[in-house]
Amino acid sequence: MILFVVGILVGLASVVSICLVLYARWNYGVLEAAGVPVIKPSFFLGSVPNLHQKIQTEEDIKRFQEYGPIWGLYEGRTPIINICDPDLIRAIFLKDVDHFYDRRVGHFGDPRIDEILDYLPGEKWKKMRKMQTILFSSGKIRQYNKQLADAAFDFVHSLRNKCDKNGRTTVNTRDAMDIISLDGIARVSFGVKLENVEDSNNRFYKGLKRLLGEGLEYDSLYSLSMTFPFLHKLAPSFNIEPVLFDTFKEIINSRRAQRISESSLNPDVQKPCNDLADFLVDCYENLNSSDFKRLGISETTILAQALNVTALDMISATMTMISYYLAINPNIQEKLHQELDEVIDGKYEGRIDSETVHQLPYLSACIDETLRLAPPLIRPERCCTKDWTSPDGTLKIKKGTVVMSPLWAVHRNPKYFHKPETFQPERFIQGTESYAKDLKHSYSYTPFGVGYRNCIGMRLAIETLN
Ligand code: HEM
Repeated sequence: MILFVVGILVGLASVVSICLVLYARWNYGVLEAAGVPVIKPSFFLGSVPNLHQKIQTEEDIKRFQEYGPIWGLYEGRTPIINICDPDLIRAIFLKDVDHFYDRRVGHFGDPRIDEILDYLPGEKWKKMRKMQTILFSSGKIRQYNKQLADAAFDFVHSLRNKCDKNGRTTVNTRDAMDIISLDGIARVSFGVKLENVEDSNNRFYKGLKRLLGEGLEYDSLYSLSMTFPFLHKLAPSFNIEPVLFDTFKEIINSRRAQRISESSLNPDVQKPCNDLADFLVDCYENLNSSDFKRLGISETTILAQALNVTALDMISATMTMISYYLAINPNIQEKLHQELDEVIDGKYEGRIDSETVHQLPYLSACIDETLRLAPPLIRPERCCTKDWTSPDGTLKIKKGTVVMSPLWAVHRNPKYFHKPETFQPERFIQGTESYAKDLKHSYSYTPFGVGYRNCIGMRLAIETLN
């Protein structure tokens, strides 16, 4: 009897194992048929079984050098084609968008993350994106400029207070940049200056940092979840602290209360949508609309849009890298200093506003060059929703394949960038020798992505970085 039971259990275990292996290997072969060089997959954990131990940007650069502008790999069980060729980037991300409309469906182990704009599909994405566009118009960006300048002013003031009598201090650049970015983005998104933003124990700040991965160790379970997505629950890519959504809800409730009291005084005046908080309140008021119901836009979807503030991480990462490149290139730093002295301190007498920041071509070029060498969002992606063949017939992409543009490799393509590894802001300034040496192609430099799903916050980001 015991032998019989053991036999049944062994049999069951074998069947389950075979099913799991079949499931894991289901897509193997898809990339080989596409006609691209493929990083050979392991038995059932995809091409990069130790994903959690790799620095992805370095891997992309190495693979570009090894395989050229196109290569495929299985991320767990997902077939992925990496494209560094600007003509193909244009074809896939822009021209043939009906084959590549969405990103992958989010599987982050938490529905509130799965519902951020980045991961919404089709019609639902279209509706939310259209509604949010109003927050990033030229008029709004001009309006945010004053709030951003105030945040910059407070930041410099607090930095000065920390300096010794020789005007020197030591700071952790990334922490400092996090603080100014969080302060700036909270002011433009919610119209509030967060209390104690500089206190490293500020709960909201800590919550955002945790959400962005601080303290999260990626281990082999994380790599395993790439093959078996149901494991994401055990190995989430993010930590969500209750304080985040509690704070968002508080802000929304207080804005709603403010609106009710204002409209009781002026019932005929329609309140404009001034910032993210207004947008969220507008969405709440539409919760029962037939459109929202049809598209499945729920309270979770709305709250997830508040997570746009996590884009502060992109801004902070970029400012940190600008500081780094300026520190290791003192000549460039000196040149930038001169421009700021001449333009801001000279011509505009220290005034920083939307007009003056656009009179600084060298600063702008330093930002562009940093975004070339160290784009913070490393791999914009699209999911193929309908089989696609490239115009010359050499590349065949099957439905379900993910296409990525690995930007650290794309932006270092020696075909388009002379001395691609060198930090040379002049390459973005027309009329310079450096500018003339690069071969221009609109899709060889795309730090904010391409096409309909490009970065919605691009203009705000550029304004903030300036
Ligand atoms: C240096 C700063 C930033 C960089 C380099 C950056 C870059 C990007 C990139 C590469 C994408 C993917 C685009 C694509 O797939 O084609 C993206 C998407 C997005 N970004 Fe940014 N971003 C920045 C700042 C911001 C800011 C400040 C916000 C908002 C406040 C923002 C909100 C978004 C959103 C919501 C998406 C998803 C858009 C969609 O799917 O419709 N980003 N960003």
